Amino acid sequence: MQKTLAIIKPDAVQRRLIGKIISKFEEKGLEIIGLKMTVISEGLARKNYSIHEGKDYFEKLVKFMASGPVVILVLRGENAIEVTRRLMGSTSGHEAAPGTIRGDYALSGRFNLIHGSDSVESAKREISLFFDDTSIMEYEKSDLKWIYDMSGENLV
Ligand code: PPS
Repeated sequence: MQKTLAIIKPDAVQRRLIGKIISKFEEKGLEIIGLKMTVISEGLARKNYSIHEGKDYFEKLVKFMASGPVVILVLRGENAIEVTRRLMGSTSGHEAAPGTIRGDYALSGRFNLIHGSDSVESAKREISLFFDDTSIMEYEKSDLKWIYDMSGENLV
């Protein structure tokens, strides 16, 4: 199954939305296999967003991500990268569809509550920036057979 990284951003932590955001992922059926609260250094934020270096908003984004505590999650599930990004909604809060995290709780284009990896390569790179192997819990969840049909060779 696929893994992805999500960061509950400083605005969401300050607005007491940690629980609501984590619930969206859990209720969908994604497994939380890594979780920590931390303050990201500007250096680490730069590394996480290195593909956006040079864009006019890059410095603002780095400063925002380092401006306060965040909660970082590793999520696992079928197609977890796309599923997570769809639950997040489109980048700007004022454009994001109702029902998504940004659509329900954000209006800003910058203070948009949540980050999610956008590809398999990014997910791998971003997970390794924030977690070592010993802090990822690859345990077996007992409810998985009710989240997916596991009776055949493939999960459906
Ligand atoms: S792009 O160019 O399509 O790849 O950009 P996009 O995916 O929309 O955004 C990449 C990340 O930059 C953040 N972003 C911004 N931050 C601050 N200010 C402005 N104006 C801005 N525009 C985009 C955006 O939220 C993405 O970060 P994450 O954390 O992945 O949401």
